[in-house]
Amino acid sequence: KIAHSYDDPVRIAVIGGTGLQTLAGFTHIATLTPTTPWGAPSSPISILHHPSPSTGKPFPIAFLSRHGLHHELAPHEVPSRANIATLRSIGVRTIIAFSAVGSLQEEIKPRDFVVPDQVIDRTKGIRPFTFFEGGMVGHVGFADPFDPALAKIVQQCGHSLAGEGVRLHDKGTVVCMEGPQFSTRAESNMYRSWGGSVINMSALPEAKLAREAEIAYQMICMSTDYDCWHDSGDVTVEMVMGNMKANAENARRFVGAVLDELSKDEHENLVLAKHVEGSVKFAGGIT
Ligand code: ADE
Repeated sequence: KIAHSYDDPVRIAVIGGTGLQTLAGFTHIATLTPTTPWGAPSSPISILHHPSPSTGKPFPIAFLSRHGLHHELAPHEVPSRANIATLRSIGVRTIIAFSAVGSLQEEIKPRDFVVPDQVIDRTKGIRPFTFFEGGMVGHVGFADPFDPALAKIVQQCGHSLAGEGVRLHDKGTVVCMEGPQFSTRAESNMYRSWGGSVINMSALPEAKLAREAEIAYQMICMSTDYDCWHDSGDVTVEMVMGNMKANAENARRFVGAVLDELSKDEHENLVLAKHVEGSVKFAGGIT
């Protein structure tokens, strides 16, 4: 249902994870309920207006709740292809994705934020993970699964909030496991030996699909627990939700600062993802 009309294309989306199911402080302009050849997205898309600090003009943002409006989708049930296709279809070229994670390193304390630069795929191949199949053969590089230019902005914004209690780690490897069960202690220790920094159930296939859609994508992780390798007590849902809730205000401030920065005119080419345009190569297929 369209509440108001809006004219500007929407270039930036926020995908909210566990604990970040809405974005407060933004003006709600419209709710879209699109469908795609891959089905409906996890939630309706909220179009929010945000005054640009440089131009003062309203700047549109799309918000999608990864696990649904009521957290009804388990990680393996998230329709990532529909989510990415929906956002791309309304003009989105830049995604800031939020995720609760377990920490695999002592120095990443619960409630710390991490801007990951690498992923290890521990999903089980049961989630649809590509747009390129059924007669269309496309390949895209994934050596650096997140967008380094976007990461730089996210890092600066995170550090600018140090005085307000945002503790940020500039890089890290996120292990994406299948779930919904948490890891065994042996697995948790193995991920540590592999160099994993944090663990979640949501980075993939989302990051892969964003890359295939030529969207600049950066995840912001918020640590909610020490996973089970640590002797401070095994991870529980209460622990994850409790820390997420306690830190929700910082998460919102952080995302708000990133959106403020991205809405500046000087970032127009980045936001339009000019630097990733044409990165998908087709190796054949039916025309
Ligand atoms: N999300 C939050 N904490 C997690 C953990 N310990 N393992 C996997 N996903 C998580």
